[in-house]
Amino acid sequence: MILTDQEKKMLDGEEGYPAQKAMQILVRLGEIYDADRMIPVSKVHMPGSSVVVAGEAGTRLVEKMAAQGGHFKVFTTLNTGAIDMGSWSEIGYSRETHDLQQRLTRAYEKLGALACHTCTPYLIGSVPRLGEHIAWGESSAIAFVNSVFGARTNREGGPSALAAALTGVVPNYGFHRQENRYGQIHVKVATALSGTVDYGSLGYWVGRRTDSKIPVFTGIPKDVTTDQLKMLSAALASSGSVALYHIVGVTPEAADFETAFGGHQPVEVLTFERSGLRESEGLLNKHQNQPVSIVVIGCPHASIQEIESIAKQLDGKKIHDGMELWITAAQPVKAYAERCGFEQTILAAGGRIVTDTCPILSPMGYLAKARNMHALATNSAKLAHYAPGQWGMPTYYGSLEMCIQIAIDGAARTVSLGERHEG
Ligand code: F3S
Repeated sequence: MILTDQEKKMLDGEEGYPAQKAMQILVRLGEIYDADRMIPVSKVHMPGSSVVVAGEAGTRLVEKMAAQGGHFKVFTTLNTGAIDMGSWSEIGYSRETHDLQQRLTRAYEKLGALACHTCTPYLIGSVPRLGEHIAWGESSAIAFVNSVFGARTNREGGPSALAAALTGVVPNYGFHRQENRYGQIHVKVATALSGTVDYGSLGYWVGRRTDSKIPVFTGIPKDVTTDQLKMLSAALASSGSVALYHIVGVTPEAADFETAFGGHQPVEVLTFERSGLRESEGLLNKHQNQPVSIVVIGCPHASIQEIESIAKQLDGKKIHDGMELWITAAQPVKAYAERCGFEQTILAAGGRIVTDTCPILSPMGYLAKARNMHALATNSAKLAHYAPGQWGMPTYYGSLEMCIQIAIDGAARTVSLGERHEG
């Protein structure tokens, strides 16, 4: 690999141990993927920001980098953490988890990160533009920024994202290169999609069939919303490992079919029909009619529009005794919801907006056991995919409106397999 003088200095240790170690990681990565050189990145989003993932060993590594004078050279945001930093003890997280998370967050802050602890940094001001090279972790966010904004990132893990932040560069390979960004599989969407949940079901169905190949969708309307694309991105990256997709006439690298495929023919054509919606709902409803104990909305973290529609549905109502309703969101979105009066409506109904964390990246297993929780309901294909394995809890999957109705009724009868798609 060709390195600039500054990159060589870092590799030789002239900028200290953290930058040297980071450059060693990046050079090794570049060699593995046959990169010709390093390229500058403008933003890093750090996975491994939860102690559920980082653990004591990961926390010590970040602390060591901070203690040895490391500093982030580019704008760096933190992914979702393990606890709600404001309400952790009220929710029931242990002091031990709190203390470890606080150590990790403080070490990242000392290095220069913004401790936003969210998987949707693009909803709170970290908005890369078309063609901008960045180094992001968190699979749902990667798929979203690569596809919806046309920014360029590989799927960064904890060590490579840390190294990118400490040096400001990444090896030039994968999705940073134009030749690797063209579509491979054509997905014809041949059924109407409604709400956000159907986009999750579509993504879940496609991800199971494409693995890491790049799908190109046709048949998705031009007025598809940001929240629908957020759900599509998360689901594609859960059942498969899709990090980039295109929607003809919608996303910026797919002005038309030929552009999306770079003039090549698709290697495969898939048609998504009504039966696909039923298939995803069948796979994601993993329950035997156990009672629902908790409804979780906000995977990926909720937008202000989602919170507004939840508040409207809850206005003047109460959630059922013994039921919990969590809406997970970034802290600034919660502050916005409070200013708009939405949070007050949700609190009055008995729900809560949880920030900095989410059920998958927090130690929910012990909370579920301690509270004797039976089943979870969610509108997120990603959460429904991971929760049964992670928490050992049966899962109900359905639309946002159905989930909120479950919270109010205390009964899950409104979500039944394929109910909305009969006929
Ligand atoms: Fe975000 Fe957690 Fe879901 S990180 S995408 S809310 S699993």
